[in-house]
Amino acid sequence: MTLHAHVVGWGKYVPRRVLTNDDLSRMVETSDEWIRTRTGIRERRLADEGETTATMAVEAARQALEVARISPAQLDLIIVATVTPDHLFPATACLVQDALGATHAAAFDLSAGCSGFIYALSVAAHLLEAGAFQTALVIGAETLSRITDWSDRATCVLFGDGAGAVVLQAGENEGGVLATVLGADGSGGDLLMLPAGGSRWPASHRTVAEGLHYLRMQGREVFRFAVRKMPATTRKVLERAGLTLDDVGLLIPHQANQRIIDAAARALGIPEDAVYVNLDRYGNTSAASIPIALCEAAEEGRIQPGDLVVCVGFGAGLTWGAAAIRWTRPQPLPLPRYQRLLRRLYYPLAAFRSWLRRLGRRLAALWSRIAGEENGKNSPS
Ligand code: UT7
Repeated sequence: MTLHAHVVGWGKYVPRRVLTNDDLSRMVETSDEWIRTRTGIRERRLADEGETTATMAVEAARQALEVARISPAQLDLIIVATVTPDHLFPATACLVQDALGATHAAAFDLSAGCSGFIYALSVAAHLLEAGAFQTALVIGAETLSRITDWSDRATCVLFGDGAGAVVLQAGENEGGVLATVLGADGSGGDLLMLPAGGSRWPASHRTVAEGLHYLRMQGREVFRFAVRKMPATTRKVLERAGLTLDDVGLLIPHQANQRIIDAAARALGIPEDAVYVNLDRYGNTSAASIPIALCEAAEEGRIQPGDLVVCVGFGAGLTWGAAAIRWTRPQPLPLPRYQRLLRRLYYPLAAFRSWLRRLGRRLAALWSRIAGEENGKNSPS
């Protein structure tokens, strides 16, 4: 029996707060004209104080589960691709697992820069195809605004926050994730990095004073790498799937720079209307950019059952990756009201369950302390 990993649900979340190019031009020496012509970005979304990578991931996941008509309890696996986790540990995926009440799911984070979502999709698809899991939630989520140096015009104009998610389900019918390609070149790791906060340079007065907790990038070098890698990786994934460029219904590139996207499309000979772009509204949301774009394209009806979608990305590491997906799921009809209500009820119950487990753990600790003291009293001296 051959199993295939089908995309059966999709969702996204972007924060409400909008930061326009004009807003930025009041913060650093830049202009709307420079940002638009050099990057294609007009505005980006920024997380509010209470929002984190996990909270945005949960919102995107809830939508994806609703589209898939799947309950969180049916999930076996959650992968969150991110370079801006809530904490170094526990994994953001575990926070998401708890908030969703996905009580049967394994959960871990994956760090592969802006290629993270493709990496996570590839890992999940292979696990499903191998029969190890039946249903997986794959999320790309970032709060890049928290690692952005808002006084550095070379980087602060580029990035935004958000989350995108897909639900993958194993099935015997043909289609779904047909092929993936992943690659890395660690010799370019210094071109795009967050220097401090890890074991090399743990947080200290010096790292903070020197701004080493902010993202650093050599933009021109990354640009050159991206222009080379995007077309090559697209060709490779199509070759692996036994398909050609003529088969591509929609190309969903990582949304980093309009000039990179245009160069890739030109090199591949793919017409503009077969390339999905939402970079103008969200900027570069790293691992979230491809799943947000995929979700919007599906919602807008730009992807229909039978279509071949190719997602291709590049990013910190350096890393790159592509996925060829044969779409098999039609746009779902809206859920009946009572079903939506039942779904919404699930999440407060999950929060209550989580609270009960914490309480249970505290009571158990208290009990073992009391019991320990009693044993201590009774034990021979
Ligand atoms: O997800 C992966 C992450 N990263 C990327 O994909 C980024 C890839 N790189 C890029 O997108 C582009 O390299 C950038 C958009 C970052 C920069 O565009 P560029 O055309 O490569 O500009 P540049 O770095 O060569 O800078 C050109 C000029 C410089 O001034 P001088 O030296 O020519 O006087 C910069 O100081 O533009 C200046 N500049 C700015 N001017 C106004 C840099 N940033 C700004 C700014 N506003 N925000």
